[in-house]
Amino acid sequence: MWSNRWLFVLAAAGSAVGLGNLWRFPYITGENGGGAFVLIYLICIALVGIPIMMAEVLIGREGRQSPVNSMRSLTQQHHRHRAWVLVGWMGVVAGFLILSFYAVIAGWALKYVFSMAGGGFAGASGDQAVAAFDQFLGSPWEMLLWHTLFMALVVFIISRGVVAGLETAVRWLMPLLFVLLAVLVGYGVTSGGFAQGVDFMFGLEWGKLTGAGLFDALGHAFFTLSLGMGAIMAYGAYVPSSVSITNTVVTIAVLDTLVALAAGLAIFPVVFANGLEPGQGPGLMFVTVPLAFGQMPLGALFGTLFFLLVGFAAITSAISLTEPALAYFVEQRNVKRSKAAAGIGVVCWLLGVGTVLSFNEWADVHLLGQMTFFDLLDYFTQNILLPLGGLFIALFAAYALPKAVLKHQLGIKTALSEKGWLLLAGVVAPLGVLAVFLVTIIGLDNIRAWLS
Ligand code: PHE
Repeated sequence: MWSNRWLFVLAAAGSAVGLGNLWRFPYITGENGGGAFVLIYLICIALVGIPIMMAEVLIGREGRQSPVNSMRSLTQQHHRHRAWVLVGWMGVVAGFLILSFYAVIAGWALKYVFSMAGGGFAGASGDQAVAAFDQFLGSPWEMLLWHTLFMALVVFIISRGVVAGLETAVRWLMPLLFVLLAVLVGYGVTSGGFAQGVDFMFGLEWGKLTGAGLFDALGHAFFTLSLGMGAIMAYGAYVPSSVSITNTVVTIAVLDTLVALAAGLAIFPVVFANGLEPGQGPGLMFVTVPLAFGQMPLGALFGTLFFLLVGFAAITSAISLTEPALAYFVEQRNVKRSKAAAGIGVVCWLLGVGTVLSFNEWADVHLLGQMTFFDLLDYFTQNILLPLGGLFIALFAAYALPKAVLKHQLGIKTALSEKGWLLLAGVVAPLGVLAVFLVTIIGLDNIRAWLS
């Protein structure tokens, strides 16, 4: 049990704030043309993400076990169909798949800790920063080394079950990350590209929004809040009953969103000040951040610290990716924690090799159209598995659990707030997910053509 409300907030924030905010949000915003995409993403966070996160915490706290077993005992207790348990299993699978590429990208951050410390970026030009990153992408062995290192760190931490140590770390390092982000945003203000960056992020040009962008915005809302796969549900199992779910969830979602927006405000000014391409893809953070620090006094020091903190934020997220599987193996199968951790690590590491290769040796191997192995994993987990998982979690909370359980868990006192929550979790959030799926299937351009 977390000993107080803040410990859960810290752990959940540690899970939510990660590569999704710092690396992924800026680059997919760049790929999707900015403003309109950002607005859709914010709407998804508020209307879909928050209710589903509440559903996850409340299911976890009511079940008090790993997600698979919480779902199992709640379906049995309330005589629901056994198929609900599949939602827990889907989460376990999603966690493995996501961790496999998450560890590769986190490895990039570790590599950049050393690149920054070497001071090589002092006064570098945009072209040089791009070239340095491309060179790294072209070295599978080097990338594999960092991937392995990150995975080993995760396995080491989770096998020792140092959740307690983790919270102390989050408590100190997370604020430090915010400070460094603020330094970067401050640099952005002076870089000469700030107005353009802000305009890109918040200027609404609906013409730039595509069906694929809409789908990405929804998927990213799930990814960045760690939703749809049981990570938050697993942590919810340790939340004391005195904690208000609504307040905590809103706090976490707001914090997570602020970090993503700050990352965007740090990165896009540098993009425009240096004539870089906002839609250049996954390398965006690894090109712009070294550039910015390279032009600052003490840049090597700050830059090193920044990537260290990115790596740290990635570790706290990676830990939560393993928690549904780990908790299940330990409680159900009586496997030793260290064995389960090693098993998860090996499977994810192997899968991760595919992601490593998709940036070099397999860069031209395309699956389902234009996708590399990494693209496919990223798309399948974030755009499909997480939203589907979240959809079922919301439906389960809203319709399969007795209303008395909901009221008790959410501390609902009035009929109005009960209706309000049911409307959000049982109607708005599921319809939001379904609507985006439907638009993606039909195609936004077709819809636009019909409308005009
Ligand atoms: N939310 C994490 C991030 O933004 C990633 C994550 C997804 C963690 C799903 C756990 C579960 O980086």
